Amino acid sequence: MADNADAETLARLLRTRRSVRDFTDREVPAELIAAILDDARWAPSWSNTQPYRIAVAGGALKDQLKEQLLARFDAATKLQAGGVLGKLAAFLTRSKALPDGDFDTRFEYPAELTPRRRATGFGLYASLGIARGDTAARHRQMRRNWEFFGAPVVLFVFVRRELGAYSVLDAGIFLQSLMLSAQARGLGTCAEGALGTWAGPVREAFEVPPNYKLLCGLALGWPSGHVVNAYNPGRAEVAEMLIPEKRS
Ligand SMILES: Cc1cc2nc3c(=O)[nH]c(=O)nc-3n(C[C@H](O)[C@H](O)[C@H](O)COP(=O)(O)O)c2cc1C
Repeated sequence: MADNADAETLARLLRTRRSVRDFTDREVPAELIAAILDDARWAPSWSNTQPYRIAVAGGALKDQLKEQLLARFDAATKLQAGGVLGKLAAFLTRSKALPDGDFDTRFEYPAELTPRRRATGFGLYASLGIARGDTAARHRQMRRNWEFFGAPVVLFVFVRRELGAYSVLDAGIFLQSLMLSAQARGLGTCAEGALGTWAGPVREAFEVPPNYKLLCGLALGWPSGHVVNAYNPGRAEVAEMLIPEKRS
């Protein structure tokens, strides 16, 4: 276990950081956003290429993006209800409901990882008092993703296309650095893959350089006392991630 102050602090931050899915209305001062970005920029990356760019939205711009993204989510919900013909019509009319993200967020989960995914989802809904069969309530909670869970600030993370998986890896290290810096300052975060679903509104709002792909978003703000923020899905033991040697 931790045997000095730095190690203890880091171990505590790593163990107690949780995804925050409900925020207070309190604004985050621009200097604080600048400070956590300034910490996170020290993240390591492939050949120190730092192959990511960050778009930050607060205030009116955040509200505009929320409206536009929610409109897409709601249109997509209608589309789902419309069956095959509805989907065909959406395709032919180039409906805004169709995902236009740079990465496909609707992958098949391998059987090995499905139990963890399900346990995390069910645990989250249970913490909110949502019954397994209550699809309407689950849908309402899902919709909160595109409200950034009420956060006053949302960040969008872009990665450079040519570096492939390694730009994504670098962005992940950057994000964890940012999340820990935010947490150390009393702020809460939630990484949001959901925000990679529709890129159009984000690209319209920011001067995204060519060859940068939208990877995900991140909600940032002051955690509320809502019960959802106490949800801890736990982790597998170290032994479960270690690959054993081959026996000769
Ligand atoms: C890349 C990435 C994408 C994520 N996307 C979402 C998301 O779209 N919505 C959400 O509620 N949580 C999202 N999460 C949060 C995870 O569900 C969460 O980290 C995981 O369940 C572990 O919980 P903890 O962060 O509270 O420890 C994401 C996390 C990561 C790292």
